[in-house]
Amino acid sequence: MIAPMTDDVFKQLRDFIYEQSGIFVPDNKKYFLENRLGRRVQEKNLKGYDEYLYVLKYGGDKAELVKLFELVTTNETFFFREPQQFDVLCGDLLKKIMEENTKAARRDIKIWCAASSTGEEPYTIAMQLMERPEAAGFRKEILASDISESVLASAKAAVYGSYAVRNIPPAYMSKYFTPDGQNFRLAESVKALVRFMKINLISDRDVKSIRGMDVIFCRNVLIYFDEKAKQKALALMYDALRPGGSLIVGTSESLHNITRAFRPTVINRVVIYQKV
Ligand SMILES: C[S@@+](CC[C@H](N)C(=O)[O-])C[C@H]1O[C@@H](n2cnc3c(N)ncnc32)[C@H](O)[C@@H]1O
Repeated sequence: MIAPMTDDVFKQLRDFIYEQSGIFVPDNKKYFLENRLGRRVQEKNLKGYDEYLYVLKYGGDKAELVKLFELVTTNETFFFREPQQFDVLCGDLLKKIMEENTKAARRDIKIWCAASSTGEEPYTIAMQLMERPEAAGFRKEILASDISESVLASAKAAVYGSYAVRNIPPAYMSKYFTPDGQNFRLAESVKALVRFMKINLISDRDVKSIRGMDVIFCRNVLIYFDEKAKQKALALMYDALRPGGSLIVGTSESLHNITRAFRPTVINRVVIYQKV
């Protein structure tokens, strides 16, 4: 049994998490940190949250930071989530990218899924791009990244349960998946289009190697950040896009009042933020 989290330790833990990841835990969510971190405190045989905070801050153990990211992130995702955004990507946006890249003598299409969780989002994009014959002459490069190493490991394994695949159209299911016990294994041809990296969206050092992206998908992650962390992540993603490139956030998210660096345009009721 561990002692309840004091308000002071809560604030220090919450500030530490924020500095490291941009994830902001509001005052009324102390229970969230108690729930998520309690088991870890016990596993490590620590007396309480104050000792865990000490380990995180002064223990010099990078692996514990990795573990912390796993504990505090929310990794909910599934194939064909918010599908109208993929339709726009593979329709009007794809046409525009191919035209602009052809003019600039580029024969590739570069897409970055900036918080890809267990891989359903980048693999949905890969499958849908494979279905577009007009893009056949372009090399497709999909970079998928996340702050959590464990979700990246399952993304690379690419074996999914029935919840993750429930929205996949039957034609895609039979073409790109094979049953594996209770699960479904993704085809190697789809996996081959996606490269995974561990990237913290508020880290200059992590994002600075990413450049020249045609499109960035950053869906359902900025909601966990406060305004300052959102601005930081957006500024880094701005630099990672090529001029004229597009940013797509979750359908319930908006950049209104956060940044003016992008110009919003609407295609088939989907908002696309363009780098100007
Ligand atoms: C809810 S999932 C979104 C998955 C997918 N984009 C979607 O919309 O279905 C949010 C992901 O953001 C990741 N995340 C949280 N903070 C992050 C950060 N600072 N840098 C990169 N990824 C982060 C989490 O690990 C988690 O996998």
